[in-house]
Amino acid sequence: MTLEQARKQLEAENQAHVLRHWERLDAATRTALLEQIAALDLAGIGRMRAQLTDQGRGTAPTPTEPLPAPVVRLDDDLYRRARARGEQALRAGEVAVLLVAGGQGSRLGFEGPKGAYPIGPVSDAVLFYFHARKVLALSRSSGRPVPFYIMTSGSNDAATRACFAAHGWFGLDPADVFFFKQGMWPAMDADGRLILDAPGHLFMSPDGHGGTLSALRASGGLDDMRRRGIRTVFYFQVDNPLVEVADPAFVGLHLLRGVDLSIKVCAKRDPQEGLGVVVQRGGRSEIVEYTELTEEQKNRRGADGELVFRYGSVAIHLFQFDFLARMAEVALPLHVAHKKIPVCADDGTVATPAAPNGYKFEKFIFDVLPYANEVLNLMFDRREEFSPVKNAAGADSPDSCRRDLAAKWARWLAAAGVDVARDGEGFPAVPIEIDPAYARTPEELSERLDGAGSLDTGRPIHLKLS
Ligand code: UD1
Repeated sequence: MTLEQARKQLEAENQAHVLRHWERLDAATRTALLEQIAALDLAGIGRMRAQLTDQGRGTAPTPTEPLPAPVVRLDDDLYRRARARGEQALRAGEVAVLLVAGGQGSRLGFEGPKGAYPIGPVSDAVLFYFHARKVLALSRSSGRPVPFYIMTSGSNDAATRACFAAHGWFGLDPADVFFFKQGMWPAMDADGRLILDAPGHLFMSPDGHGGTLSALRASGGLDDMRRRGIRTVFYFQVDNPLVEVADPAFVGLHLLRGVDLSIKVCAKRDPQEGLGVVVQRGGRSEIVEYTELTEEQKNRRGADGELVFRYGSVAIHLFQFDFLARMAEVALPLHVAHKKIPVCADDGTVATPAAPNGYKFEKFIFDVLPYANEVLNLMFDRREEFSPVKNAAGADSPDSCRRDLAAKWARWLAAAGVDVARDGEGFPAVPIEIDPAYARTPEELSERLDGAGSLDTGRPIHLKLS
């Protein structure tokens, strides 16, 4: 793009200020700025501006009251049938795994991709290790590679690839690992003007995990899935090392029910827990994000004393492939957040204000729910499958996650006949870590340990494939 073309385009969009420092920029910065301008998502920017204006607000329909969504539990018989169906799909090579890892981990205060955060209680293995080793274990038990699609963003793509390369792809065949970058969006001030965070640079941030679908299509990921004959896509977030990746019973139930979308849900720990809740509105399913529920809705209780909006989504989903591909064509709604954004003044100095000064926009993956033929909400045991790393300390932190991992593995060891001493609070007294490729389930662990001799439970326990 030439300077003239950029100027014309920006003037047409009322964004001419983006070039106001042009004269003082060096050649490299000028080239980079023109590239940024050429890559702008103009349709997206138009929608953002409309959303900030009265016109945008005025056209939004008033939402009707949400109702709690129905939730399914697996009994023994259904579990067996579902698991058999899921294993069949995995053996047929019809299941793919999709990890969203484009976020910035700012609450955790960790520089670099969140997936490179060391979480292994004994080995300090990184979050990516646990996810990748589960994909490896599933591939081995199914006798077919389970392709692994990983969404990164402009700010962590290179570091994510480097992390996989440095660890030998965690044992996976690189031909079955597909990285793709999500889109980046600019931010706006209250007048809809794009924000410069340096004289020759637009502030940009990831477009939210709703950007997964368009990025998967643009990168060729959807075509790759089609070529491989994928029919079911397992979606999850990078921050939860307890996740049961493409759990066969979940996959099987989704297929037996023939739904477009399935979601794992659990009861919220307390009214304020940061989980989106599953609801129904006007006969359609939705997830209402925790930031978008009113205090009254969060705290509302039914006659049984339980929270009315009790079941939270832990962002573990299954998509029917055709539905996913169809949704890649849909313009998902924008969610706006008022934030403190570093801004470049007329004199070229840059400062981050003390109060929010701009708006960031994101798309959420769960806004596809209302398009689904049917949505299945499956209840699961959160002790076994959910303990995310979100905050630096306290709840949902590395400490709480390591403790929950060790407690889960101690239960698996107990089921295999190995008793681990407990501390005063009932948690394992020694650190425990089990490589998912050594044992992906308690049953596999029992088989492995049967005849493996006795374990020394007085020292840290680390079971891994050598
Ligand atoms: C998220 C969900 C919430 C759910 C909870 C479960 C949203 C908006 N909310 O909350 O409904 O109950 O997890 O733990 O997601 N990501 C990207 N690109 C982005 C933004 C995020 O890939 O542009 C990825 C992150 O890397 C992460 C995941 O999406 O894996 C979740 O993002 P995060 O911002 O941490 O969501 P939460 O507020 O924790």
